[in-house]
Amino acid sequence: MSKQNISQKRKSQKIVWITGASSGIGRETAKRLARDGWTVCVSARSEDKLKSLSKECTKMPGVVMPFPCDVTDEDKVAKVVNTIEESVGQIDVVLLNAGTYISNSVEKFTAESFKKHTKVNLEGTVNCLAAVLPNFLKRKEGHIAIVASVAGYRGLPRSISYGATKAALQNLAEALAIETLDKNIKIQIINPGFVKTPLTDKNDFHMPMLMEVDKAADKLVKGLYSDKFEITFPLLFAEILKFVGLLPHKLYIKLVYKITKDKLN
Ligand SMILES: NC(=O)c1ccc[n+]([C@@H]2O[C@H](COP(=O)([O-])OP(=O)(O)OC[C@H]3O[C@@H](n4cnc5c(N)ncnc54)[C@H](OP(=O)(O)O)[C@@H]3O)[C@@H](O)[C@H]2O)c1
Repeated sequence: MSKQNISQKRKSQKIVWITGASSGIGRETAKRLARDGWTVCVSARSEDKLKSLSKECTKMPGVVMPFPCDVTDEDKVAKVVNTIEESVGQIDVVLLNAGTYISNSVEKFTAESFKKHTKVNLEGTVNCLAAVLPNFLKRKEGHIAIVASVAGYRGLPRSISYGATKAALQNLAEALAIETLDKNIKIQIINPGFVKTPLTDKNDFHMPMLMEVDKAADKLVKGLYSDKFEITFPLLFAEILKFVGLLPHKLYIKLVYKITKDKLN
Protein backbone atom coordinates (compact mmCIF):
# COMPACT_ATOMS: atom_id res chain seq x y z
CA MET A 1 0.00 0.00 0.00
CA SER A 2 1.32 3.48 -0.89
CA LYS A 3 2.23 5.99 1.82
CA GLN A 4 -0.62 8.25 0.62
CA ASN A 5 -3.18 5.46 0.96
CA ILE A 6 -1.89 4.60 4.43
CA SER A 7 -2.17 8.20 5.59
CA GLN A 8 -5.71 8.46 4.18
CA LYS A 9 -6.67 5.20 5.86
CA ARG A 10 -5.47 6.28 9.30
CA LYS A 11 -7.13 9.71 9.27
CA SER A 12 -9.55 9.92 12.21
CA GLN A 13 -8.47 6.48 13.39
CA LYS A 14 -7.38 6.00 16.98
CA ILE A 15 -3.72 5.19 17.53
CA VAL A 16 -2.48 2.33 19.67
CA TRP A 17 1.17 1.43 20.34
CA ILE A 18 1.81 -2.24 21.11
CA THR A 19 5.16 -3.57 22.32
CA GLY A 20 6.08 -7.22 21.85
CA ALA A 21 3.93 -7.38 18.73
CA SER A 22 6.14 -9.60 16.58
CA SER A 23 4.57 -12.81 17.90
CA GLY A 24 2.02 -14.35 20.24
CA ILE A 25 -0.49 -12.24 22.14
CA GLY A 26 0.86 -8.87 20.92
CA ARG A 27 0.79 -9.87 17.26
CA GLU A 28 -2.72 -11.33 17.47
CA THR A 29 -4.02 -8.27 19.35
CA ALA A 30 -2.49 -5.98 16.71
CA LYS A 31 -4.41 -7.87 13.99
CA ARG A 32 -7.60 -7.79 16.01
CA LEU A 33 -7.34 -4.01 16.52
CA ALA A 34 -6.49 -3.42 12.84
CA ARG A 35 -9.65 -5.37 12.01
CA ASP A 36 -11.51 -2.89 14.26
CA GLY A 37 -10.07 0.03 12.28
CA TRP A 38 -7.27 1.18 14.60
CA THR A 39 -3.94 2.61 13.52
CA VAL A 40 -1.65 0.10 15.20
CA CYS A 41 2.00 1.02 15.77
CA VAL A 42 3.92 -2.14 16.57
CA SER A 43 7.29 -2.63 18.25
CA ALA A 44 9.58 -5.58 18.98
CA ARG A 45 13.18 -6.38 18.08
CA SER A 46 12.35 -8.53 15.02
CA GLU A 47 11.81 -6.00 12.23
CA ASP A 48 11.10 -8.70 9.63
CA LYS A 49 8.23 -10.11 11.69
CA LEU A 50 6.76 -6.63 12.24
CA LYS A 51 6.90 -5.98 8.48
CA SER A 52 5.20 -9.29 7.71
CA LEU A 53 2.48 -8.43 10.25
CA SER A 54 1.97 -5.07 8.57
CA LYS A 55 1.64 -6.82 5.18
CA GLU A 56 -0.82 -9.36 6.58
CA CYS A 57 -3.10 -6.51 7.65
CA THR A 58 -3.15 -4.43 4.43
CA LYS A 59 -6.72 -5.43 3.55
CA MET A 60 -8.05 -4.61 7.01
CA PRO A 61 -9.93 -1.40 7.87
CA GLY A 62 -7.04 -0.26 10.09
CA VAL A 63 -3.34 -0.08 9.41
CA VAL A 64 -0.31 -1.66 11.11
CA MET A 65 2.94 0.32 11.14
CA PRO A 66 6.26 -1.18 12.31
CA PHE A 67 8.53 0.68 14.75
CA PRO A 68 11.26 -1.83 15.63
CA CYS A 69 12.81 -1.32 19.03
CA ASP A 70 14.33 -3.10 21.99
CA VAL A 71 12.36 -2.04 25.08
CA THR A 72 15.48 -2.36 27.24
CA ASP A 73 17.04 0.56 25.33
CA GLU A 74 15.61 3.61 27.12
CA ASP A 75 16.80 6.17 24.52
CA LYS A 76 15.51 4.14 21.58
CA VAL A 77 12.12 3.72 23.26
CA ALA A 78 11.86 7.50 23.79
CA LYS A 79 12.81 8.07 20.13
CA VAL A 80 10.17 5.61 18.91
CA VAL A 81 7.46 7.34 20.94
CA ASN A 82 8.53 10.73 19.53
CA THR A 83 8.61 9.37 15.99
CA ILE A 84 5.13 7.88 16.32
CA GLU A 85 3.69 11.09 17.77
CA GLU A 86 5.37 13.26 15.10
CA SER A 87 4.83 11.06 12.04
CA VAL A 88 1.61 9.20 12.84
CA GLY A 89 -0.19 11.25 15.51
CA GLN A 90 -0.95 11.37 19.21
CA ILE A 91 -0.91 7.94 20.82
CA ASP A 92 -4.29 7.17 22.42
CA VAL A 93 -3.53 3.75 23.90
CA VAL A 94 -0.35 1.88 24.81
CA LEU A 95 -0.30 -1.87 25.31
CA LEU A 96 2.93 -2.71 27.13
CA ASN A 97 3.15 -6.37 26.32
CA ALA A 98 6.82 -7.16 25.55
CA GLY A 99 8.01 -9.88 27.86
CA THR A 100 10.27 -12.83 28.32
CA TYR A 101 10.04 -16.07 30.25
CA ILE A 102 12.67 -18.66 31.10
CA SER A 103 11.23 -21.66 32.87
CA ASN A 104 13.75 -22.83 35.43
CA SER A 105 13.74 -24.78 38.59
CA VAL A 106 15.52 -23.64 41.73
CA GLU A 107 18.58 -25.73 40.80
CA LYS A 108 19.00 -23.63 37.68
CA PHE A 109 18.42 -20.30 39.42
CA THR A 110 21.05 -17.70 38.56
CA ALA A 111 21.29 -13.98 39.09
CA GLU A 112 21.81 -13.61 35.34
CA SER A 113 18.53 -15.31 34.46
CA PHE A 114 16.67 -13.27 37.09
CA LYS A 115 18.15 -10.05 35.69
CA LYS A 116 17.11 -11.00 32.13
CA HIS A 117 13.52 -11.04 33.35
CA THR A 118 13.74 -7.75 35.23
CA LYS A 119 15.50 -6.07 32.29
CA VAL A 120 12.76 -6.89 29.77
CA ASN A 121 9.58 -7.40 31.79
CA LEU A 122 10.04 -4.71 34.39
CA GLU A 123 12.63 -2.16 33.21
CA GLY A 124 11.46 -2.51 29.58
CA THR A 125 7.89 -1.68 30.61
CA VAL A 126 9.14 1.19 32.77
CA ASN A 127 11.11 2.63 29.81
CA CYS A 128 7.92 2.66 27.73
CA LEU A 129 5.87 4.14 30.55
CA ALA A 130 8.38 6.92 31.14
CA ALA A 131 8.26 7.77 27.44
CA VAL A 132 4.46 8.08 27.17
CA LEU A 133 3.38 9.34 30.60
CA PRO A 134 4.51 13.00 30.28
CA ASN A 135 2.48 13.40 27.06
CA PHE A 136 -0.59 11.76 28.61
CA LEU A 137 -0.32 13.97 31.71
CA LYS A 138 0.09 17.10 29.59
CA ARG A 139 -2.89 16.23 27.40
CA LYS A 140 -4.93 15.01 30.40
CA GLU A 141 -5.90 11.87 28.52
CA GLY A 142 -4.48 8.47 27.74
CA HIS A 143 -4.88 4.76 28.24
CA ILE A 144 -2.12 2.47 29.47
CA ALA A 145 -2.55 -1.31 29.56
CA ILE A 146 0.25 -3.40 31.05
CA VAL A 147 0.55 -7.12 30.44
CA ALA A 148 1.52 -8.98 33.61
CA SER A 149 0.39 -12.56 34.36
CA VAL A 150 -1.58 -14.64 36.83
CA ALA A 151 1.92 -15.78 37.87
CA GLY A 152 2.18 -12.44 39.65
CA TYR A 153 -0.66 -13.17 42.10
CA ARG A 154 1.34 -15.52 44.36
CA GLY A 155 4.56 -17.50 44.05
CA LEU A 156 4.45 -20.44 41.64
CA PRO A 157 7.02 -23.14 40.86
CA ARG A 158 9.18 -22.66 37.72
CA SER A 159 8.30 -19.00 37.94
CA ILE A 160 10.77 -17.66 40.49
CA SER A 161 12.12 -14.84 38.32
CA TYR A 162 9.19 -14.39 35.93
CA GLY A 163 6.55 -14.26 38.68
CA ALA A 164 8.49 -11.67 40.65
CA THR A 165 8.58 -9.27 37.68
CA LYS A 166 4.87 -9.77 37.00
CA ALA A 167 3.96 -9.14 40.65
CA ALA A 168 5.97 -5.92 40.45
CA LEU A 169 4.01 -4.87 37.34
CA GLN A 170 0.72 -5.52 39.13
CA ASN A 171 1.82 -3.33 42.03
CA LEU A 172 3.07 -0.66 39.62
CA ALA A 173 -0.22 -0.60 37.69
CA GLU A 174 -2.24 -0.30 40.90
CA ALA A 175 -0.12 2.60 42.16
CA LEU A 176 -0.39 4.29 38.76
CA ALA A 177 -4.17 3.83 38.71
CA ILE A 178 -4.47 5.57 42.07
CA GLU A 179 -2.23 8.46 41.02
CA THR A 180 -4.02 8.99 37.70
CA LEU A 181 -7.60 8.46 38.84
CA ASP A 182 -8.35 12.20 38.64
CA LYS A 183 -6.20 12.77 35.54
CA ASN A 184 -8.35 11.14 32.86
CA ILE A 185 -5.75 8.44 32.27
CA LYS A 186 -7.07 4.90 32.17
CA ILE A 187 -4.80 2.22 33.62
CA GLN A 188 -5.41 -1.49 33.13
CA ILE A 189 -3.52 -4.61 34.10
CA ILE A 190 -3.79 -7.71 31.93
CA ASN A 191 -3.20 -11.01 33.69
CA PRO A 192 -3.35 -13.91 31.24
CA GLY A 193 -3.30 -17.55 32.31
CA PHE A 194 -1.68 -20.02 29.90
CA VAL A 195 -1.95 -18.94 26.26
CA LYS A 196 -0.45 -20.96 23.38
CA THR A 197 2.40 -18.80 22.05
CA PRO A 198 6.14 -19.24 21.37
CA LEU A 199 6.65 -18.26 25.03
CA THR A 200 4.68 -21.21 26.44
CA ASP A 201 5.71 -23.63 23.65
CA LYS A 202 8.96 -23.99 25.63
CA ASN A 203 7.14 -25.47 28.64
CA ASP A 204 7.55 -29.20 29.18
CA PHE A 205 4.70 -29.52 31.70
CA HIS A 206 0.94 -29.69 31.35
CA MET A 207 -0.56 -26.20 31.21
CA PRO A 208 -4.10 -26.22 32.62
CA MET A 209 -6.79 -24.45 30.59
CA LEU A 210 -4.30 -23.49 27.86
CA MET A 211 -6.02 -20.94 25.62
CA GLU A 212 -5.57 -20.39 21.87
CA VAL A 213 -3.98 -17.05 21.08
CA ASP A 214 -6.83 -15.72 18.88
CA LYS A 215 -9.31 -16.29 21.74
CA ALA A 216 -6.90 -14.58 24.15
CA ALA A 217 -6.64 -11.56 21.83
CA ASP A 218 -10.44 -11.36 21.62
CA LYS A 219 -10.70 -11.30 25.42
CA LEU A 220 -7.87 -8.79 25.69
CA VAL A 221 -9.47 -6.38 23.20
CA LYS A 222 -12.89 -6.75 24.83
CA GLY A 223 -11.18 -5.85 28.10
CA LEU A 224 -9.46 -2.81 26.58
CA TYR A 225 -12.86 -1.49 25.49
CA SER A 226 -14.20 -1.96 29.04
CA ASP A 227 -13.75 0.06 32.22
CA LYS A 228 -12.33 -2.90 34.14
CA PHE A 229 -9.00 -2.41 35.92
CA GLU A 230 -8.02 -6.06 35.56
CA ILE A 231 -8.39 -8.05 32.36
CA THR A 232 -7.83 -11.76 32.80
CA PHE A 233 -8.36 -14.91 30.77
CA PRO A 234 -9.25 -17.74 30.97
CA LEU A 235 -11.40 -16.34 33.76
CA LEU A 236 -11.94 -19.64 35.58
CA PHE A 237 -8.19 -20.31 35.85
CA ALA A 238 -7.58 -16.83 37.26
CA GLU A 239 -10.47 -17.20 39.70
CA ILE A 240 -9.14 -20.55 40.96
CA LEU A 241 -5.66 -19.07 41.48
CA LYS A 242 -7.14 -16.06 43.27
CA PHE A 243 -9.20 -18.32 45.51
CA VAL A 244 -6.22 -20.53 46.38
CA GLY A 245 -4.22 -17.34 46.84
CA LEU A 246 -6.48 -16.37 49.75
CA LEU A 247 -4.92 -19.15 51.83
CA PRO A 248 -2.41 -18.27 54.55
CA HIS A 249 1.23 -18.57 53.40
CA LYS A 250 2.10 -21.97 54.91
CA LEU A 251 -1.09 -23.61 53.64
CA TYR A 252 -0.69 -22.04 50.20
CA ILE A 253 2.92 -23.23 49.89
CA LYS A 254 2.07 -26.81 50.95
CA LEU A 255 -1.00 -27.03 48.69
CA VAL A 256 0.75 -25.72 45.56
CA TYR A 257 3.72 -28.01 46.28
CA LYS A 258 1.37 -31.01 46.50
CA ILE A 259 -0.56 -30.14 43.34
CA THR A 260 2.48 -29.43 41.17
CA LYS A 261 5.22 -31.70 42.58
CA ASP A 262 4.64 -34.75 40.31
CA LYS A 263 3.72 -32.68 37.28
CA LEU A 264 6.96 -30.72 37.24
CA ASN A 265 9.52 -33.46 37.88
N1 LIG B 1 1.59 -16.94 26.76
C1 LIG B 1 1.19 -16.98 28.01
O1 LIG B 1 0.70 -18.01 28.52
C2 LIG B 1 1.32 -15.75 28.89
C3 LIG B 1 0.73 -15.81 30.16
C4 LIG B 1 0.80 -14.70 30.97
C5 LIG B 1 1.45 -13.56 30.53
N2 LIG B 1 2.02 -13.53 29.28
C6 LIG B 1 2.69 -12.30 28.88
O2 LIG B 1 2.19 -11.88 27.64
C7 LIG B 1 3.19 -11.11 26.97
C8 LIG B 1 3.34 -11.64 25.55
O3 LIG B 1 3.82 -12.97 25.64
P1 LIG B 1 3.54 -14.07 24.52
O4 LIG B 1 3.05 -15.27 25.23
O5 LIG B 1 2.78 -13.50 23.40
O6 LIG B 1 5.06 -14.41 24.12
P2 LIG B 1 5.88 -14.27 22.77
O7 LIG B 1 5.11 -14.82 21.62
O8 LIG B 1 7.22 -14.83 23.08
O9 LIG B 1 5.97 -12.69 22.58
C9 LIG B 1 6.86 -11.91 23.30
C10 LIG B 1 7.03 -10.61 22.54
O10 LIG B 1 7.89 -9.75 23.28
C11 LIG B 1 8.89 -9.27 22.41
N3 LIG B 1 10.10 -8.95 23.14
C12 LIG B 1 10.85 -9.77 23.93
N4 LIG B 1 11.93 -9.12 24.38
C13 LIG B 1 11.85 -7.86 23.87
C14 LIG B 1 12.66 -6.71 23.97
N5 LIG B 1 13.80 -6.71 24.69
N6 LIG B 1 12.28 -5.58 23.32
C15 LIG B 1 11.15 -5.57 22.59
N7 LIG B 1 10.34 -6.61 22.46
C16 LIG B 1 10.69 -7.75 23.08
C17 LIG B 1 9.10 -10.39 21.38
O11 LIG B 1 9.62 -9.88 20.16
P3 LIG B 1 11.14 -9.89 19.68
O12 LIG B 1 11.75 -11.18 20.13
O13 LIG B 1 11.01 -9.74 18.22
O14 LIG B 1 11.76 -8.70 20.33
C18 LIG B 1 7.66 -10.83 21.16
O15 LIG B 1 7.04 -9.99 20.23
C19 LIG B 1 4.45 -11.24 27.81
O16 LIG B 1 4.60 -10.10 28.62
C20 LIG B 1 4.18 -12.46 28.67
O17 LIG B 1 4.89 -12.43 29.88
C21 LIG B 1 1.97 -14.60 28.45
